[in-house]
Amino acid sequence: MRQGLYGFLSCALGLAASLRTDQTFYNPILPGWNPDPSCIFVPEANNTFFCTTSSLVVFPALPIYASQDLQSWELISNVLHDPDQFPDIASASIPNEGFLESTLRYHHGKYYLTTGYYAPDGKFTTLIFKSHNPFNESGWGKPLECPTLGYDPDLFWDDDGSSYLTALKVPDNTVIQAPIDLDTGRWGSEYYLWNGTGGGTLEGPHIIKKDGFYYLTIAEGGISVDHMQTMARSERLNGPYIPFEKNPVLSSRNSSEYFQAVGHLDLFQDAKGEWFGVACATRSGPEWKNFPMGRETSLFPVTWNQGQWPEFPPVRGVMNGSSLPPRMSLLKDEDKVDGTDMIDFSPGSSIPKHLLHYGLPNFSSYTVSPKNYSHSLRLRASKTNLTGTIGSKTAEQRTAIFRKQAHSLFSFELDILFTPAMTSEEAGITVFLAPQQHLDLAIGSVKNEKGSVIPALIFRVMNLGKNGTNHPPTEFYPLPEAWRQSPVRLQVSATNVTTYRFSANLISAERKMEYVFYGSAGVVTAGEGKFDGALFWHACTKPSWRGRFEMLMKSNRILAWSVCHYRWWKWYT
Ligand SMILES: *[C@@H]1O[C@H](CO)[C@@H](O)[C@H](O)[C@H]1NC(C)=O
Ligand SMILES: *[C@@H]1O[C@H](CO)[C@@H](O)[C@H](O)[C@H]1NC(C)=O
Ligand SMILES: *[C@@H]1O[C@H](CO)[C@@H](O)[C@H](O)[C@H]1NC(C)=O
Ligand SMILES: *[C@@H]1O[C@H](CO)[C@@H](O)[C@H](O)[C@H]1NC(C)=O
Ligand SMILES: *[C@@H]1O[C@H](CO)[C@@H](O)[C@H](O)[C@H]1NC(C)=O
Ligand SMILES: *[C@@H]1O[C@H](CO)[C@@H](O)[C@H](O)[C@H]1NC(C)=O
Ligand SMILES: *[C@@H]1O[C@H](CO)[C@@H](O)[C@H](O)[C@H]1NC(C)=O
Ligand SMILES: *[C@@H]1O[C@H](CO)[C@@H](O)[C@H](O)[C@H]1NC(C)=O
Ligand SMILES: *[C@@H]1O[C@H](CO)[C@@H](O)[C@H](O)[C@H]1NC(C)=O
Ligand SMILES: *[C@@H]1O[C@H](CO)[C@@H](O)[C@H](O)[C@H]1NC(C)=O
Repeated sequence: MRQGLYGFLSCALGLAASLRTDQTFYNPILPGWNPDPSCIFVPEANNTFFCTTSSLVVFPALPIYASQDLQSWELISNVLHDPDQFPDIASASIPNEGFLESTLRYHHGKYYLTTGYYAPDGKFTTLIFKSHNPFNESGWGKPLECPTLGYDPDLFWDDDGSSYLTALKVPDNTVIQAPIDLDTGRWGSEYYLWNGTGGGTLEGPHIIKKDGFYYLTIAEGGISVDHMQTMARSERLNGPYIPFEKNPVLSSRNSSEYFQAVGHLDLFQDAKGEWFGVACATRSGPEWKNFPMGRETSLFPVTWNQGQWPEFPPVRGVMNGSSLPPRMSLLKDEDKVDGTDMIDFSPGSSIPKHLLHYGLPNFSSYTVSPKNYSHSLRLRASKTNLTGTIGSKTAEQRTAIFRKQAHSLFSFELDILFTPAMTSEEAGITVFLAPQQHLDLAIGSVKNEKGSVIPALIFRVMNLGKNGTNHPPTEFYPLPEAWRQSPVRLQVSATNVTTYRFSANLISAERKMEYVFYGSAGVVTAGEGKFDGALFWHACTKPSWRGRFEMLMKSNRILAWSVCHYRWWKWYT
């Protein structure tokens, strides 16, 4: 995004320097699937801003991002990074399950992340994680499991130091609150706060105290184009809460903005006392057709005068901020959430923090730099394919590893060494939104006319998650003789926002050997995966445990490229 634009302009036009003012910044600040943001500013942590977003079914979960300038952000830890912290995560495997709607807060030297875990049996658990230093991933330990007050938990400390849990009571669809003991997780008597303005589907309540008023803000209207943010306030924490007469305070409903579905607000102040808001939005335009990255986190300055209600600007890609904190250039490009990503799995390294699994993985299926294959990641095939058994309430371990699509236009390459030994054995790359919605380019095998099993290049569009879309047949081509036993480069890129271009080529070959396929971004937009955003990378599956298991991806260091290379050349605002 921001750095991206500078990079792009400086290459193409040489304008970079003239655009660098503190007044302008670019959204989304946390590009790619990063919904339901909750952010804080911590002066004691060297004036650092921290944010978390919903991670749902992916593992590791509950990302914490940090920034000192609100513009360059780094993923610093995943709160849930070890299944021993919360063994129930082994059960989540389908969209809409897992961790959802967290609140991040800092109080008296401690960081608190409270979140909800949705299990396949419909059970909902409220969890509170604590840490003294979010930069230290292992400092996040096991959560406190609380009796559940309601969905979308929020934590608030009043001036006397007492703490409160605010949540949504379902199916009443009301905001309720109770005092909570943060050492035991027990809460006292609950009471009603508010029922919103009639938009329905209340989400993400937060309490903020300012100038003697308690402000309660909630999202209403659901996560689609009707999404909006409303507010009420009271002079007493337990109400009565009087709604703002100009609600919604923030929304892109009925607008032609490119950033749509704006809502799910959190508010914080910087070192100078300036207010900022974060919310999620889709880069979809009102036509709401292609937005594979799903809900992303955007930032905006907030005008909040003494005793008044806050005022919000429209959320856009190019924002004219009030004064942002000074721009820092401390982060290296590859450490930024929107940076260029080259991963070569060097010996002794571990799998980078931003790589994700869909559901809890079998860790033994992933080996960094195995013997004789340094600078590569070995995947052991799983029985379950990417689609799995639709609707299954049983966790299915897919061997698959992903990163988020973070830019509208990008290119992603993977070099793969894989020879299928039997039919249905497959390894390759995918653009994946949900088990029902993915686009795959793989090396596998098929039966030819003579009935013999031959290695093949397979392109598949899986779009069971959306009604009314055609499901084109799977395409396959026999793998050229020269490609067998050789590393093949699989690539996916987006040169416009509606289409992904997939290609395969022998690493050493000329472009004329290339195979090219096109897939629609609409397949990986909304539908069953409506809470999610596109992920891509590679997967390896086989239907039985007979035969060979290993797939190797190997970089050729002499040619100086890496195993995986994600780069972008533009983003859309
Ligand atoms: C605090 O932040 C400043 C500015 O980014 C940096 O120069 C300094 O090294 C940081 N100090 C610590 C203790 O991290
Ligand atoms: C990180 O947290 C773990 C667990 O609390 C602790 O053992 C370790 O010393 C911490 N590391 C640092 C650098 O603070
Ligand atoms: C909220 O509660 C009030 C008082 O019970 C009721 O009159 C109103 O219709 C409710 N509003 C919504 C949106 O449910
Ligand atoms: C604005 O959008 C809402 C929700 O989509 C709809 O109910 C309402 O009629 C729209 N209003 C106008 C003026 O278009
Ligand atoms: C930001 O400022 C530029 C230049 O003044 C202007 O063209 C643009 O419309 C402004 N954007 C917003 C969101 O106000
Ligand atoms: C992980 O895979 C290994 C090898 O197939 C298997 O022995 C082990 O039981 C699996 N672990 C889990 C938790 O499924
Ligand atoms: C590694 O390579 C050496 C030399 O080519 C060979 O002898 C050995 O069997 C290989 N080991 C593995 C695990 O493939
Ligand atoms: C994926 O697995 C499911 C469940 O076993 C199976 O029904 C489906 O045919 C498989 N899909 C492919 C493309 O192999
Ligand atoms: C598809 O249609 C069926 C039957 O009308 C419905 O139950 C299902 O929810 C629809 N799925 C989606 C993703 O719209
Ligand atoms: C997007 O790119 C595809 C593939 O090159 C092309 O067929 C399609 O027309 C393009 N769409 C737009 C809106 O430019």
